[in-house]
Amino acid sequence: MDSFQIAIDGPAGSGKSSISKALANKLGFKYLDTGAMYRAVTLEALEKGINLENEKEYSFLQNFQLKFVNQRIHIRDVDVSKEIRMKRVTENVSLVSSLNVVRKKMVELQKQFALNCNCILDGRDIGTVVLPKAKLKIYLTADIEERAKRRIKESYKNESLENMINKIKIRDYKDSSRDNSPLIISENAMVIDTTYLTEKEVLEKILKEYNKRK
Ligand code: CDP
Repeated sequence: MDSFQIAIDGPAGSGKSSISKALANKLGFKYLDTGAMYRAVTLEALEKGINLENEKEYSFLQNFQLKFVNQRIHIRDVDVSKEIRMKRVTENVSLVSSLNVVRKKMVELQKQFALNCNCILDGRDIGTVVLPKAKLKIYLTADIEERAKRRIKESYKNESLENMINKIKIRDYKDSSRDNSPLIISENAMVIDTTYLTEKEVLEKILKEYNKRK
Protein backbone atom coordinates (compact mmCIF):
# COMPACT_ATOMS: atom_id res chain seq x y z
CA MET A 1 0.00 0.00 0.00
CA ASP A 2 1.15 3.53 -0.75
CA SER A 3 2.04 5.59 2.26
CA PHE A 4 -0.53 8.11 3.45
CA GLN A 5 0.66 11.51 4.56
CA ILE A 6 -1.44 14.11 6.33
CA ALA A 7 -0.44 17.79 6.34
CA ILE A 8 -1.86 20.04 9.05
CA ASP A 9 -1.18 23.76 8.90
CA GLY A 10 -2.54 26.80 10.68
CA PRO A 11 -1.71 29.74 12.92
CA ALA A 12 -0.72 29.67 16.61
CA GLY A 13 -3.36 28.22 18.93
CA SER A 14 -5.54 26.78 16.17
CA GLY A 15 -5.26 23.31 17.74
CA LYS A 16 -2.73 21.75 15.38
CA SER A 17 -0.60 19.82 17.82
CA SER A 18 -3.35 18.37 20.03
CA ILE A 19 -5.39 17.35 16.99
CA SER A 20 -2.32 15.91 15.25
CA LYS A 21 -1.34 13.86 18.30
CA ALA A 22 -4.86 12.51 18.78
CA LEU A 23 -5.13 11.67 15.09
CA ALA A 24 -1.74 9.96 15.06
CA ASN A 25 -2.78 7.81 18.03
CA LYS A 26 -6.08 6.92 16.46
CA LEU A 27 -4.60 5.97 13.07
CA GLY A 28 -1.30 4.53 14.32
CA PHE A 29 0.62 7.09 12.25
CA LYS A 30 3.94 8.73 13.08
CA TYR A 31 3.75 12.39 14.10
CA LEU A 32 6.21 15.23 13.59
CA ASP A 33 5.79 18.63 15.27
CA THR A 34 7.77 20.83 12.87
CA GLY A 35 7.22 23.93 15.01
CA ALA A 36 9.21 22.21 17.77
CA MET A 37 12.12 21.89 15.31
CA TYR A 38 12.13 25.63 14.53
CA ARG A 39 11.89 26.30 18.26
CA ALA A 40 14.88 24.03 18.93
CA VAL A 41 16.98 25.89 16.34
CA THR A 42 15.94 29.17 17.97
CA LEU A 43 16.89 27.88 21.43
CA GLU A 44 20.30 26.76 20.18
CA ALA A 45 20.92 30.09 18.40
CA LEU A 46 20.01 31.99 21.57
CA GLU A 47 22.25 29.76 23.71
CA LYS A 48 25.13 30.33 21.31
CA GLY A 49 24.50 34.07 21.47
CA ILE A 50 24.74 34.52 17.71
CA ASN A 51 23.29 37.46 15.80
CA LEU A 52 19.92 35.90 15.00
CA GLU A 53 19.50 37.89 11.80
CA ASN A 54 22.77 36.81 10.22
CA GLU A 55 22.38 33.65 8.13
CA LYS A 56 26.15 33.15 8.12
CA GLU A 57 26.16 32.48 11.84
CA TYR A 58 23.99 29.38 11.50
CA SER A 59 26.84 27.04 10.51
CA PHE A 60 26.00 24.97 13.62
CA LEU A 61 23.07 23.58 11.63
CA GLN A 62 25.44 21.36 9.66
CA ASN A 63 25.98 19.12 12.67
CA PHE A 64 22.89 19.94 14.64
CA GLN A 65 21.86 16.84 16.59
CA LEU A 66 18.11 17.05 16.76
CA LYS A 67 16.08 14.00 17.70
CA PHE A 68 12.54 13.08 18.76
CA VAL A 69 12.27 10.46 21.50
CA ASN A 70 8.69 9.46 22.39
CA GLN A 71 7.41 12.80 21.07
CA ARG A 72 9.93 14.72 23.21
CA ILE A 73 12.54 16.78 21.44
CA HIS A 74 16.24 16.35 22.20
CA ILE A 75 19.29 18.43 21.28
CA ARG A 76 22.49 16.38 21.66
CA ASP A 77 20.55 13.83 23.73
CA VAL A 78 19.25 16.45 26.16
CA ASP A 79 15.46 16.77 26.45
CA VAL A 80 14.61 20.42 25.67
CA SER A 81 10.83 20.00 25.28
CA LYS A 82 10.21 22.45 28.10
CA GLU A 83 12.88 25.01 27.18
CA ILE A 84 11.61 25.40 23.61
CA ARG A 85 8.32 26.81 25.00
CA MET A 86 10.07 29.59 26.93
CA LYS A 87 9.06 33.16 26.18
CA ARG A 88 12.39 34.18 24.68
CA VAL A 89 12.16 31.29 22.22
CA THR A 90 8.54 32.08 21.29
CA GLU A 91 9.43 35.73 20.77
CA ASN A 92 12.29 34.96 18.38
CA VAL A 93 11.12 31.86 16.53
CA SER A 94 9.36 33.71 13.71
CA LEU A 95 12.54 35.63 12.92
CA VAL A 96 14.73 32.52 12.97
CA SER A 97 12.28 30.49 10.92
CA SER A 98 12.11 33.16 8.23
CA LEU A 99 15.76 32.55 7.27
CA ASN A 100 16.42 30.52 4.11
CA VAL A 101 19.35 28.67 5.66
CA VAL A 102 17.18 27.46 8.54
CA ARG A 103 14.18 26.48 6.40
CA LYS A 104 16.32 24.61 3.88
CA LYS A 105 17.80 22.40 6.59
CA MET A 106 14.53 21.81 8.45
CA VAL A 107 12.52 21.01 5.32
CA GLU A 108 15.19 18.50 4.29
CA LEU A 109 14.90 16.72 7.67
CA GLN A 110 11.10 16.82 7.56
CA LYS A 111 11.00 15.29 4.07
CA GLN A 112 13.37 12.55 5.19
CA PHE A 113 11.13 11.79 8.17
CA ALA A 114 8.05 11.52 5.96
CA LEU A 115 9.62 9.31 3.32
CA ASN A 116 7.58 6.14 2.79
CA CYS A 117 5.73 6.35 6.07
CA ASN A 118 2.17 6.89 7.19
CA CYS A 119 2.57 10.13 9.03
CA ILE A 120 1.14 13.44 10.17
CA LEU A 121 3.22 16.60 10.06
CA ASP A 122 1.99 19.89 11.46
CA GLY A 123 3.33 23.39 10.92
CA ARG A 124 2.95 26.35 8.61
CA ASP A 125 4.20 25.14 5.21
CA ILE A 126 3.49 21.42 5.31
CA GLY A 127 0.79 21.31 2.61
CA THR A 128 2.54 23.87 0.43
CA VAL A 129 6.26 23.01 0.67
CA VAL A 130 7.12 19.98 2.80
CA LEU A 131 4.45 17.55 1.60
CA PRO A 132 2.84 19.11 -1.48
CA LYS A 133 1.60 15.64 -2.49
CA ALA A 134 0.04 14.78 0.88
CA LYS A 135 -3.17 12.83 0.38
CA LEU A 136 -4.97 14.89 2.99
CA LYS A 137 -4.32 18.56 3.77
CA ILE A 138 -5.99 20.34 6.63
CA TYR A 139 -5.87 24.04 7.49
CA LEU A 140 -6.99 24.68 11.06
CA THR A 141 -7.96 28.12 12.22
CA ALA A 142 -9.93 29.85 15.00
CA ASP A 143 -10.79 33.39 16.12
CA ILE A 144 -7.85 35.26 17.57
CA GLU A 145 -9.48 35.66 21.00
CA GLU A 146 -10.19 31.94 21.26
CA ARG A 147 -6.64 31.10 20.19
CA ALA A 148 -5.21 33.46 22.80
CA LYS A 149 -7.41 31.95 25.52
CA ARG A 150 -6.24 28.45 24.63
CA ARG A 151 -2.60 29.54 24.74
CA ILE A 152 -3.01 31.12 28.19
CA LYS A 153 -4.76 28.00 29.49
CA GLU A 154 -2.13 25.57 28.19
CA SER A 155 1.12 27.34 28.94
CA TYR A 156 1.11 31.04 29.80
CA LYS A 157 -1.21 31.27 32.82
CA ASN A 158 0.07 34.69 33.97
CA GLU A 159 -0.37 36.47 30.66
CA SER A 160 -3.30 38.87 30.17
CA LEU A 161 -5.69 38.17 27.32
CA GLU A 162 -4.87 41.48 25.67
CA ASN A 163 -1.12 40.82 25.74
CA MET A 164 -1.53 37.33 24.40
CA ILE A 165 -3.75 38.55 21.54
CA ASN A 166 -1.10 41.10 20.60
CA LYS A 167 1.73 38.57 20.72
CA ILE A 168 -0.14 36.07 18.59
CA LYS A 169 -1.08 38.79 16.10
CA ILE A 170 2.58 39.76 15.71
CA ARG A 171 3.64 36.13 15.17
CA ASP A 172 0.77 35.48 12.73
CA TYR A 173 1.78 38.55 10.77
CA LYS A 174 5.45 37.56 10.60
CA ASP A 175 4.63 33.96 9.66
CA SER A 176 2.16 34.98 6.95
CA SER A 177 4.13 37.80 5.39
CA ARG A 178 7.62 36.30 5.04
CA ASP A 179 8.99 35.61 1.57
CA ASN A 180 10.05 32.02 2.13
CA SER A 181 7.15 29.59 2.68
CA PRO A 182 4.63 31.92 4.30
CA LEU A 183 1.63 30.53 6.15
CA ILE A 184 -1.10 30.34 3.51
CA ILE A 185 -4.00 28.00 2.87
CA SER A 186 -2.78 25.30 0.53
CA GLU A 187 -4.82 25.07 -2.67
CA ASN A 188 -6.60 21.81 -1.94
CA ALA A 189 -6.71 21.99 1.84
CA MET A 190 -9.83 21.35 3.90
CA VAL A 191 -10.30 24.44 6.10
CA ILE A 192 -11.72 23.84 9.57
CA ASP A 193 -12.60 26.71 11.88
CA THR A 194 -12.21 25.24 15.37
CA THR A 195 -13.54 28.26 17.33
CA TYR A 196 -16.79 26.57 18.35
CA LEU A 197 -15.78 22.94 17.93
CA THR A 198 -14.55 20.44 20.50
CA GLU A 199 -11.43 18.43 19.79
CA LYS A 200 -13.65 15.39 19.26
CA GLU A 201 -15.72 17.21 16.63
CA VAL A 202 -12.62 18.36 14.76
CA LEU A 203 -11.24 14.81 14.82
CA GLU A 204 -14.50 13.42 13.46
CA LYS A 205 -14.42 15.85 10.53
CA ILE A 206 -10.85 14.92 9.67
CA LEU A 207 -11.46 11.19 10.04
CA LYS A 208 -14.47 11.39 7.74
CA GLU A 209 -12.31 13.00 5.09
CA TYR A 210 -9.51 10.49 5.67
CA ASN A 211 -11.89 7.56 5.22
CA LYS A 212 -13.04 8.94 1.87
CA ARG A 213 -9.47 9.15 0.60
CA LYS A 214 -7.65 6.17 2.05
O1 CDP B 1 2.41 25.94 18.60
P1 CDP B 1 2.57 27.32 18.06
O2 CDP B 1 1.46 27.67 17.19
O3 CDP B 1 2.95 28.31 19.08
O4 CDP B 1 3.76 27.35 17.07
P2 CDP B 1 4.71 26.20 16.62
O5 CDP B 1 3.97 25.24 15.77
O6 CDP B 1 5.45 25.68 17.81
O7 CDP B 1 5.71 27.00 15.68
C1 CDP B 1 6.53 28.01 16.19
C2 CDP B 1 6.98 28.90 15.04
O8 CDP B 1 7.81 28.14 14.17
C3 CDP B 1 5.90 29.49 14.17
O9 CDP B 1 5.37 30.71 14.70
C4 CDP B 1 6.66 29.73 12.87
O10 CDP B 1 7.40 30.93 12.93
C5 CDP B 1 7.65 28.58 12.84
N1 CDP B 1 7.25 27.46 11.98
C6 CDP B 1 7.49 27.56 10.64
O11 CDP B 1 7.96 28.59 10.17
N2 CDP B 1 7.21 26.51 9.82
C7 CDP B 1 6.69 25.39 10.30
N3 CDP B 1 6.46 24.36 9.47
C8 CDP B 1 6.41 25.28 11.68
C9 CDP B 1 6.67 26.34 12.50
